[in-house]
Amino acid sequence: MKKVALITGIAGQDGSYLTELLLNRGYDVHGVDRRSSLFNRSRIEKTRREAQKKGLVFELYYGDICDAGSLYRVISKSKPTEIYNFASQSHVAISFDEPEHTTDINANGVLRLLEAVRNFELKDCRIYQASTSELFGNALETPQTEKTPFHPRSPYGVAKLYAYWIVKNYREHYAMHANNGILYNHESPRRGENFVTRKITYSLAKIKAGDDHALELGNLDAQRDWGYAKDYVEMMWLMLQQEKADDYIIATGKLHTVREFVEKAAHVAGFDLVWEGDGTKEVGRDKLTGKIIIKVNPKFYRPIEPHLLVGDATKAKDKLGWQPKVSFENLVEIMMKADIERFL
Ligand code: GDD
Repeated sequence: MKKVALITGIAGQDGSYLTELLLNRGYDVHGVDRRSSLFNRSRIEKTRREAQKKGLVFELYYGDICDAGSLYRVISKSKPTEIYNFASQSHVAISFDEPEHTTDINANGVLRLLEAVRNFELKDCRIYQASTSELFGNALETPQTEKTPFHPRSPYGVAKLYAYWIVKNYREHYAMHANNGILYNHESPRRGENFVTRKITYSLAKIKAGDDHALELGNLDAQRDWGYAKDYVEMMWLMLQQEKADDYIIATGKLHTVREFVEKAAHVAGFDLVWEGDGTKEVGRDKLTGKIIIKVNPKFYRPIEPHLLVGDATKAKDKLGWQPKVSFENLVEIMMKADIERFL
């Protein structure tokens, strides 16, 4: 049977990597993307052109997870055997400013998608939901496993918790092959520029190229479990190849601070970084030029932060044979070098 994937949020980091993986594995790929006044398909444009040359099926549609009609239309046209849902308001800090909008996309959007699959009676269609470590929020244990109780700490996390449960409910009530991938932070040179890792590498590369503005960050001591997005999409695909649907944690199991990320990136970029001062007065200076290249700006602090989000991916490793390939150090290097290249 021909494998046909439908990817919502296809123009984002994960959508673009997964598209490449699926086209390489012989899938027809259909993708949904929101209309925006600025062209936002740069991550998939090259793949689209290459697919066209090779005569592969790679179709893009305008649509929105908040617009049920558009979902029905795309499903009816593509008749997917696998659906990957990446459509999301994915920025945790912005969810405090736009809680209702975030809920409509991240919670109700998932329900709309599941209802569309149910109403089309796509009994064999397998579904991947982009779930998140933010479900654990004020984590009750460290590291977290699939059995750790949830305690989200943001409108983003609460909306994603609804999505997690509705996916599980549709699996149990309607026997759908619906899966939650509980992914910890995953980064790459394709990461959006307002997530901390990419903000760091992008800004340091700009400074290296002569920009005079220091990089302004919030909480330097915030910790995350950062993996490589390209490693993680492999896992999403593996989840849908299993006979039984399930939920899996995908993580590296290692915590690092924002400060460590900055230090490693600065080193790769050729700065000699030293920290001076404390709290909001702390700065990072490049000893080679004497210039302040990092400042702290409380504007980027979160109203509340989650607590030690670090995942135990033993279940994914044992059941699916998955291993992350890229270490934290490699990840910083890949991202920093890619951004330096961009500004050459
Ligand atoms: N964005 C940002 N900007 N974060 C900063 C900054 C800054 O200037 N300074 C410090 N941080 C800290 C944040 O306070 C947070 O603790 C940490 O850096 C990571 O922030 P983000 O990169 O924005 O990611 P996130 O952890 O909030 O959320 C990401 O990962 C989740 C888990 O996979 C997003 O991709 C979510 O959609 C995803 O669910």
